[in-house]
Amino acid sequence: MNILKIHGKRLAYVRVGTGAPLLLVHGFPLDHSIWDPLLPFLTDYFDVILPDLPGFGGSDSPGPDPVIETYAAALADLLAGLGLSQAFVAGHSMGGYVALSLARLHPQRLLGLALVASQVLADTPERKAGRYETAEQVARYGARVVAEAMSPKLSADPAHRPVLNELILRQRPEEIVGGLHAMAGRPDSSLIFSSLRVPLVLIHGQADALIPVERAREAAQMAPHAVLVELPAAGHMPMLESPAETAAALRRLNSM
Ligand code: MLT
Repeated sequence: MNILKIHGKRLAYVRVGTGAPLLLVHGFPLDHSIWDPLLPFLTDYFDVILPDLPGFGGSDSPGPDPVIETYAAALADLLAGLGLSQAFVAGHSMGGYVALSLARLHPQRLLGLALVASQVLADTPERKAGRYETAEQVARYGARVVAEAMSPKLSADPAHRPVLNELILRQRPEEIVGGLHAMAGRPDSSLIFSSLRVPLVLIHGQADALIPVERAREAAQMAPHAVLVELPAAGHMPMLESPAETAAALRRLNSM
């Protein structure tokens, strides 16, 4: 992996392929490796940049109490550090919340935006309360709380679960707590999403047990030029469950 030092903190990333820059932002509480199955389908078309969000994988902690903008600001710094003024940005789930935050902070940096198994709305009060409760449990009992709760729901295909479980268990509990708080506090992004005039692609598994496909259908209604790609065989992890189809949908960013 490559390391870029940003304000004294190490941000780990992989960069591979040639073409227009495409930043792939992983979800919670995972790391860049989740995108690996897509790379054979993308690297002939894009200069693919795969960061580990601050606190996850090989990246240093953002410090206590990150907000969703903390992660987005680090990605803006990464792009700047790589000398890229603009990029296509695709975010998976929490990575989508981060991508939307990047769009809010630096709309001029986006060549296009893809949300993969994500949503533009903020949390409901119930979902927020659930996240704070989970965060308390993680602080007390560790990453296994989230691994046990999430692994069965992440993929419609049980074959993916052991790998996802292991990946979650490798993440640091305090960063999982930070991610939960950041997601709970994120704002509604409907306005920014619907105001973007760049290519927009929504990719969603019809069997997503964490973020129902209805959220993507609602987002598609908000932005008439958004392309919605529903994947019948996928749950919450389209990059693992339907990699060729997910990559083909991402390539549409650059052909609209
Ligand atoms: C994710 O997969 O990044 C999270 O489950 C998203 C969420 O909980 O809203």
